[in-house]
Amino acid sequence: MIVVTGGNGQLGRAVVAALRKRVDPTSFVASVRDGDKAADLVADGVTIRGNADYSDSDAMARVFDGARTALIISGNAPVEVRRQQQRNAIDGAKRAGVQRIVYTSVLDAAVPDSPFSFTAVHRDTEACLAESGVPYTIARHTAYAELNLLFAKGALATGKLSMPTGDGRVAFATRADLAGALSALLASEEHTAGIYTLTGPAAHSYAEVATALSESVGRTIPHDDCSPEAYAAGLTAAGLPPFLVEGMVGMAEAVRRGLYAEVSQDIRLLAGQAPEDGLTILRRVAPTLIRAA
Ligand SMILES: NC(=O)c1ccc[n+]([C@@H]2O[C@H](COP(=O)([O-])OP(=O)(O)OC[C@H]3O[C@@H](n4cnc5c(N)ncnc54)[C@H](OP(=O)(O)O)[C@@H]3O)[C@@H](O)[C@H]2O)c1
Repeated sequence: MIVVTGGNGQLGRAVVAALRKRVDPTSFVASVRDGDKAADLVADGVTIRGNADYSDSDAMARVFDGARTALIISGNAPVEVRRQQQRNAIDGAKRAGVQRIVYTSVLDAAVPDSPFSFTAVHRDTEACLAESGVPYTIARHTAYAELNLLFAKGALATGKLSMPTGDGRVAFATRADLAGALSALLASEEHTAGIYTLTGPAAHSYAEVATALSESVGRTIPHDDCSPEAYAAGLTAAGLPPFLVEGMVGMAEAVRRGLYAEVSQDIRLLAGQAPEDGLTILRRVAPTLIRAA
């Protein structure tokens, strides 16, 4: 049996959808913190396990009971809280006798001096997996292509795509494509160990993101290689909490340094089909953003 954590989250839901295409629905369950939010999944025939909070290692051991394979999706709490939460989830899986853990890490997890503050948490979780003695598979993720839709909304409001990334490039991938690869990792015992690098098929600069946005909405919206301070001020003004502002500014600097430029074939190899280009979803959705603005 497979347990997919974060079943109510966007990536978790995409994994559930991808798994349904690969395995019998009785062979996996989705774990969630709040069962009430998963009513639609239940109605769709997905088995749910509730009270799955990474803050509680005993609760996670109950959630993983009987599981052969577990997907631990990284959480979204501030750095120090998340670090312990993810350790708790691994501890729960180990105590439940899980035989393989698949973990969603980040592309630059092996870069000790990455400026992206969340990277240290992922590196700690990868180390915890190695220490746990439980066989594991790490899926290092690129940046989600969907993030550009959020940036596009801001850019449409200000008339420029402000991002302190220089010429740095990112091989964005959609959650659906990442989930396709994760579902393959979960469903098959062929991919039992190692590190997979999940990226889109081509790396793009934010100048290219700005061009794709401009073409999609019929308006020139240039990339503004602003200062990190100006970027942080914009994120703060938009209401983001300080830890997230720090994370996003650090992520932009990681992009500027080329830490997210890698293009890997792993999604295609695992999922059996090529991922779509990371700018395709922006081209598809941007016209609806401008209509909604
Ligand atoms: N690579 C990227 O570009 C990128 C971008 C954004 C996020 N991420 C990472 O990828 C993860 C999944 O992304 P997403 O888009 O699916 O985010 P999301 O929609 O916010 O979902 C996050 C999931 O994590 C679960 N979670 C958070 N804290 C938890 C805890 N203490 N115990 C148990 N579950 C917990 C949430 O559970 P609830 O539904 O109960 O809240 C939710 O299901 C994020 O959490 C973040 O670590 C990566």
